[in-house]
Amino acid sequence: MAKQNAVITGWGFYAPSKVLTNFDLEKIVDTTDQWITERTGIKERRIASDGENTSSMSTRAAKIALERARLRPSEVELIIVGTCSPDYLFPATACLVQDALGAEKAGAFDVEAACTSFVAALAIANGMILGGAVRNAVVIGAETLSRLLDWTDRGTCVVFGDGAGAVVLEASNASVGIESTVLHSDGSKGELLYVAAGATRIPATRETVEKGQHFIRMQGGEVFKLAVKSMADAADEALVDAGLTLEDIVLMVPHQANLRIIEGVAKRLRFPMEKVFVNLQRYGNTSAASIPIALAEAAEQGRLRRGDKVLLVAFGGGFTWGAAVLEWYGVPIPDRREKSIVERASRQLEDLVDRVRPV
Ligand code: ACO
Repeated sequence: MAKQNAVITGWGFYAPSKVLTNFDLEKIVDTTDQWITERTGIKERRIASDGENTSSMSTRAAKIALERARLRPSEVELIIVGTCSPDYLFPATACLVQDALGAEKAGAFDVEAACTSFVAALAIANGMILGGAVRNAVVIGAETLSRLLDWTDRGTCVVFGDGAGAVVLEASNASVGIESTVLHSDGSKGELLYVAAGATRIPATRETVEKGQHFIRMQGGEVFKLAVKSMADAADEALVDAGLTLEDIVLMVPHQANLRIIEGVAKRLRFPMEKVFVNLQRYGNTSAASIPIALAEAAEQGRLRRGDKVLLVAFGGGFTWGAAVLEWYGVPIPDRREKSIVERASRQLEDLVDRVRPV
């Protein structure tokens, strides 16, 4: 059998309808629209409403991606959710998504590498498809960070937002798919960006809650300094692994943490900002969700065509960082789809015959 590659055949995202602008934040903490805009580039972010959570947003994004890929939930073999704001410590958010989708055949688990979670999940799914373990995977990045924010801490509450993005990754005879993935970490810096309590090291108690230890704490400046260099290095490494140079890249889709970080990465790489996709002004930093949301928006805006080389690059808590190079595939594989439509129609006919057949 010819070597199979993993290609993206579906994409989708969901952003909650509730918009929180910088002007709204001026009423909550001691900040200004000007400060947030100049220091981050963010103008507004989306906040999950009471009934929404990481699994429900993931499910909505996944449904759109599956429809685009024309893949039925019952055909899905793997679901991975990259998140650091899961519904529960366990069960995995991916299992809740599996149930909500009705993906009865799918394996499901979560990946946690903070803002790098989507790239990590994509790397795992790619490896499993290349290794022949599964033929397809729904790879999701989703966060409900608003519920982990201290809304009195202006250093964090102005930065983050909620949302979910998903892609369908499928085995294909296409000559190129995901071309390289690189992942790195430095656990010695974990406490520069973390949630201290509420898991097993410091279980939740009245005292931890009173001290606000269940909220995200970030030394933003320290994160900032390392993010630019690490993302640029990971991009270089992923390009070398793919046998490409930056000149081959049609679009860079970086983690949407801060416009200054993104511009710093582009400058360090000497890569033109016109070829960098930026949407953080509307969504803020949605951590693991930011790359798949940006990728889906870029595709919807017609900025990706079959054969385009795309560079994804991420940095986040842990610290974790990584990059992926892929060739955009875009639309489903016609032969298999047509066959599956015929199969589906004949199955529906059989069901109908079964139902009307006298017992
Ligand atoms: N409004 C007004 N002033 C503020 C605000 C605010 N919202 N926040 C901080 N300040 C003040 C500070 O108190 C400080 O004042 P001082 O000089 O009087 O002490 C001053 O502004 C500068 O503060 P810094 O923290 O140095 O500001 P900085 O320019 O670094 O911007 C920010 C802060 C936006 C958080 C930035 O550091 C950043 O984006 N860091 C990276 C975040 C990131 O990428 N995280 C990784 C991914 S997230 C994940 O993995 C879950």
